[in-house]
Amino acid sequence: MKVASSEIKFDVESIRKDFPILSREVNGKPLVYFDNAATSQTPRQVIDAIVDYYSRYNANIHRGVHTLSQEATDAYEAARRKIQKHFNAAKSHEIIFTSGTTNAINLVASGFSTLLQEGDEVIVSALEHHSNIVPWQMLCEKTGAKLKVIPMNDQGMLRMDEFQKLLSEKTKLVFVNHVSNALGTVNPIGDIIKSAHKVGAAVLVDGAQAAPHIKADVQELDVDFYVVSAHKMCGPTGVGVLYGKEEWLKKLPPYQGGGEMIATVTFEKTTYADLPHKFEAGTPNICGGIAFGAALDYMNKIGFEAIAAYEHELLEYATEKLLEIENLRIYGTSAEKTAVISFNIGEIHPYDIGTIIDKLGIAVRTGHHCAQPVMDYYKIPGTVRASFAFYNTKEEIDSFVEAVKRAKNMLS
Ligand code: ALA
Repeated sequence: MKVASSEIKFDVESIRKDFPILSREVNGKPLVYFDNAATSQTPRQVIDAIVDYYSRYNANIHRGVHTLSQEATDAYEAARRKIQKHFNAAKSHEIIFTSGTTNAINLVASGFSTLLQEGDEVIVSALEHHSNIVPWQMLCEKTGAKLKVIPMNDQGMLRMDEFQKLLSEKTKLVFVNHVSNALGTVNPIGDIIKSAHKVGAAVLVDGAQAAPHIKADVQELDVDFYVVSAHKMCGPTGVGVLYGKEEWLKKLPPYQGGGEMIATVTFEKTTYADLPHKFEAGTPNICGGIAFGAALDYMNKIGFEAIAAYEHELLEYATEKLLEIENLRIYGTSAEKTAVISFNIGEIHPYDIGTIIDKLGIAVRTGHHCAQPVMDYYKIPGTVRASFAFYNTKEEIDSFVEAVKRAKNMLS
């Protein structure tokens, strides 16, 4: 739901005080952090949860009868329920902790190697991050299934007419990101899921770039798998989540063997634990999971509608300012976009712009953004990507635009 920005009081100055890193300087200038699509910054509330865990109840979970182990287990399982509630999963055991989105995708891809056969088809989109391409290529190599690609158009949107043509009874799986990391395009995943289900295919949605901005409801979407990383949404690195419908998680074999994921072990035969433990071999990132829960509490307190409306204002403001620069081209012009601007200026290499503006304290990502097929479509080596978060400001955008102008003058 879109909320008019005038209805929202967004106290960005008090939000910024929650983020210690935002008051540091880089190269003698105030930090302007516009690389949020790569990783977001961490509020004090999440840092406190991490310090609290290691200061008071660091212990291994699901194993000890002692108090610390029980406290850690309770906090970890409470975080799982918070994540369940956030994404509106029907059951908490449909939430599997992973080390991140890439790990979650690999878990599913590896499981499907036992379910696919030669002649089956899987569909990915042209807008994918490499992490939602390579595991499926590996799966196809293993099983003899065929990989098909939904093409994109100049605006950086998926060609849904072509998608419809790719679907058939041979289609077993469809993989698509909710939001493109390179361009910010919000994909019509609701339509994609409905169409894929009509031919009996399962759908995995990579929600890594959407989750910081859009609260996905996995039951309403009727998605089979939805994967996210905590570090893009104010949490720590090294932890993420695979949501999977119970029926699918039961069908997939375990990903890794080890402690925690078993029911019984003898040398003759091992039986596996129930969900979610079947997919959680070894000691997990306990503190990371708990801190992910704290990050969701933090963002939900601000509210995702307020976050989306404020970020949209930042996007519009920055787009207008940047387009005043001669020869600047923005890649990804869909009406449905998160606050990401990918651009180039004439023939200037994006890396050169990124390097110069870093000297002015401004952090952006440059390069192909792990989405080489998108860059190939536009016939460019890469872009400069500025990606905004709810703690950024219009004043920071002004500094950024001035810095880009300076870089342009130096390089042209
Ligand atoms: N996937 C992250 C990005 O787009 C790392 O920057």
